[in-house]
Amino acid sequence: MKTITKIAAIVPALAVAVSLMMTSPVLAQDPAKGWNQGGGEQDEALTLKPNRENGIEVYEVCAACHLYEGWGQPDGTFPQLAGQHKNVIIKQLADIRALNRDNPTMYPFALPASIGGAQSIADVADYIATLPMNPEPGRGPGTDLALGEKLYKDNCVRCHGAQGEGIAEKYYPRIQGQHYNYLLRQFEWIRDGKRRNANPDMVKQIQGFSDKDMAAVLDFVSRQQPPADMVGTVGWENPDYD
Ligand code: HEC
Ligand code: HEC
Repeated sequence: MKTITKIAAIVPALAVAVSLMMTSPVLAQDPAKGWNQGGGEQDEALTLKPNRENGIEVYEVCAACHLYEGWGQPDGTFPQLAGQHKNVIIKQLADIRALNRDNPTMYPFALPASIGGAQSIADVADYIATLPMNPEPGRGPGTDLALGEKLYKDNCVRCHGAQGEGIAEKYYPRIQGQHYNYLLRQFEWIRDGKRRNANPDMVKQIQGFSDKDMAAVLDFVSRQQPPADMVGTVGWENPDYD
């Protein structure tokens, strides 16, 4: 197996420089067109046969922020990607590239000029989906877990599943074992209409959530265990890079 020499350490500095130069893109998505209209490279990437070697090569640039293991940062700055459903990664990446989801930090690195077209999306998404997950995600304070569990059962199970495993075919993300602070930020943006690619049924479902409810339910979610065979061991280092 080919390994790739780590060069990603230099990229974050570049990222800051580029995001400072960029003005925030203001492209409104037409809500009438739906949250998952697909089309273009999303549909194409979904049907392409993934190439693992190219996935490893493309992922090099992503590792600067998401880490070689795909584990992100427990403080939630960078989400964990490891173990996410391939369909979800493809949709989110295509949305970010099409400016349907704002991500000025990552945007320049996700463009075709940086990583290539639909085939690269298919390759990197498939690669990420197979990485073992972080055994020590960032968690919440653990103070309101009974409330969190009740809210989860009443409002989230039908889409994100009993343990937060999501539903791949419907593009419902796996949220179990994700870093608490990242969950909090996304949930708040979805509730308040700032994540433009969000599912409108979820937006409706969580409209009545107070900040306390939000913190409780996401604390509960961050503690849900992915299936044991999907979780890595503490200190695991990705052998595809040296
Ligand atoms: C410069 C840092 C940076 C780089 C490089 C980067 N990302 Fe990201 N990425 C982020 C940040 C920050 C977020 C979360 C943004 C937010 O909070 O909305 C993110 C979010 C994502 C998401 C959405 C996750 C979810 O749960 O919805 C995906 C998918 C993703 N990145 C894939 C990639 C891939 C693939 C690459 C490489 C081609 C990459 N990223 C490169 C910073 C980066
Ligand atoms: C009607 C289905 C539905 C319901 C109900 C729902 N969600 Fe979601 N959720 C989604 C979909 C679809 C997405 C991805 C949206 C997108 O593509 O931007 C999502 C995204 C998220 C995200 C962002 C994940 C990421 O990786 O960025 C979080 C966090 C989340 N949901 C938590 C919850 C919680 C907690 C509840 C219950 C209080 C809930 N959702 C209820 C469908 C749902």
